[in-house]
Amino acid sequence: SEPLIVMGIESSCDETGVGIVAWDPAAPDGPVRLLADEVASSVAEHARYGGVVPEVASRAHLEAMVPTMRRALAAAGIEKPDAIAVTIGPGLAGALLVGVAAAKAYALAWDVPLYAVNHLGGHVAVDTLEHGPMPPCIALLVSGGHTHLLRVSDLGEPIEELGTTVDDAAGEAFDKVARLLGLGYPGGPAIDRLADGGDLAAIAFPRGMTGPRDARYDFSFSGLKTAVARYVEGCERRGEPVPMADVAASFQEAVADVLTMKAIRACRDFDVSTLVLGGGATANSRIRSLAQERCDAEGITLRVPKPRLCTDNGVMIATLGAHVIAGGAPPSPLTVATDPGMSV
Ligand code: KG4
Ligand code: ZN
Repeated sequence: SEPLIVMGIESSCDETGVGIVAWDPAAPDGPVRLLADEVASSVAEHARYGGVVPEVASRAHLEAMVPTMRRALAAAGIEKPDAIAVTIGPGLAGALLVGVAAAKAYALAWDVPLYAVNHLGGHVAVDTLEHGPMPPCIALLVSGGHTHLLRVSDLGEPIEELGTTVDDAAGEAFDKVARLLGLGYPGGPAIDRLADGGDLAAIAFPRGMTGPRDARYDFSFSGLKTAVARYVEGCERRGEPVPMADVAASFQEAVADVLTMKAIRACRDFDVSTLVLGGGATANSRIRSLAQERCDAEGITLRVPKPRLCTDNGVMIATLGAHVIAGGAPPSPLTVATDPGMSV
């Protein structure tokens, strides 16, 4: 049978993504094939503010959407897809509107069905591109905008959220601590590099939300950020140099420890033997190595998409769209609304 070509449009944060995949409706569980992966990022425009500025992101999406779409069509060598999937949430309200408006306009003009999908589900689904069909799994999504622990039974079905952060996202904590240490934005990669030469046990930073009465799967990183700030202030007050590499390594260890501990806990609680990582902060070398170490010890299979697919992109939305269509879901009406605070 003819493959079905699905375009995915992503604009929930600072990446304008248009991805195109193909899959075979006769073998719905078979592999999804990547045809195009075009991303335009406004990250450089946010750097001087130390974080994503919603208005700047919306404007950048407006400018980038049509050129990114044209590049994706050209890369895939098609004039139009058979279906469009678009992120309706969670994300920045104005940013989401740009992608959803584009998706509706193209769906109408091309007379193809529109599928409104959840950004977080896309982070999980994208792993099937590289590693094949997804068994029931626990997913840990960590980026500048989100920190979620999810339970996924089937990609075509709704996902259950087990926990999330009660304050800062994990990537945001990296960005804030980097700022405090005078490193640039985004701070994650800078801390990761700096930590490489430091001692991860040098400073005992707090592990948030790990007490016996704390929520089992939720996270908190603002206390950790404050502890790092106090530590740095203490050094400065005493006129001592800040042991930058040790601070970075010990902070990174605190984040990686809590994230992986709770992810493994969820795998155990639900008797699931696959853990999937997603989101830009999974590029972190310690989060990856500690997750691998702890999964190995528990007999859990760890699946991590390659970095390019971990950060926000259109391919993840196209891939989730393919799974949703394969699951038999009806298309969304062209009146479908964005849902910035969407849970899973
Ligand atoms: O998924 P992403 O590109 O964008 C969203 O936030 O949605 O993730 C970016 C976040 C930033 O907070 C960045 O500091 C963090 O991921 N990040 C890292 C690393 N690389 C990126 N955090 C820790 N270690 C890294 N190597
Ligand atoms: Zn994301």
